[in-house]
Amino acid sequence: MGGGYQWLFAWCMAHTMADYEQAVAPHKHDLFAGIGGRILELGAGTGPNAVYYPPGSTWIALEPNPYMYPYLKQAAQTHGLHLELAAGRAEAIPLADASVDAVVSTLVLCSVSNPSQVLQEVLRVLKPGGTFHFLEHVAAPTQTRLWHWQKRLKPLWRCLADGCCPDRETGRSVEQAGFASVNYTAFEAPLPALVRPQLVGRAHKAALA
Ligand SMILES: C[S@@+](CC[C@H](N)C(=O)[O-])C[C@H]1O[C@@H](n2cnc3c(N)ncnc32)[C@H](O)[C@@H]1O
Repeated sequence: MGGGYQWLFAWCMAHTMADYEQAVAPHKHDLFAGIGGRILELGAGTGPNAVYYPPGSTWIALEPNPYMYPYLKQAAQTHGLHLELAAGRAEAIPLADASVDAVVSTLVLCSVSNPSQVLQEVLRVLKPGGTFHFLEHVAAPTQTRLWHWQKRLKPLWRCLADGCCPDRETGRSVEQAGFASVNYTAFEAPLPALVRPQLVGRAHKAALA
């Protein structure tokens, strides 16, 4: 995607998501309860999750769109976080093995090119006993009318929404990735129908025996 498109996408994320963030705030309060230490956030965007991290935490924001960086710097300053900006993609996280306490992904696994590879990277960089916190929009139940529309409109939606796929089976992907435990719940978000079915949950990497 070109620079103009990336700028516009960053501007849209910064200026159109307030109602959504307000609606999902109760889910995010539960999702991020107890998070701290070295937090890696995949595709951190404009930083809407910064408000949930304890002040003083290290926030490693992995973000390929440089037009998001001013928003991330502002969010880190506002919420007292030590920001480490990382340009790169979640398919090849530029961090050492077992180097972070928690990994966060909100509305990102829909856009990555290879969700399974990303989840293997999440497991690699998490310390033993570390947690993966996710909130993602997902495929509607199979063969429903919405599921068919998600398939039909996917090519157009991907162009409009920075490569986002509306029909990913993200719950199943996380379950199959190799975490010691996975828990999530489904809910409906106040967004266009294609991206309304969402999941929120946590997965734990096994602790050392
Ligand atoms: C829909 S936005 C969500 C941003 C933020 N997580 C939020 O909840 O508002 C998707 C974000 O993922 C980023 N992204 C896309 N592909 C990525 C990849 N392969 N690795 C890491 N981030 C990616 C985009 O640049 C964008 O910031």
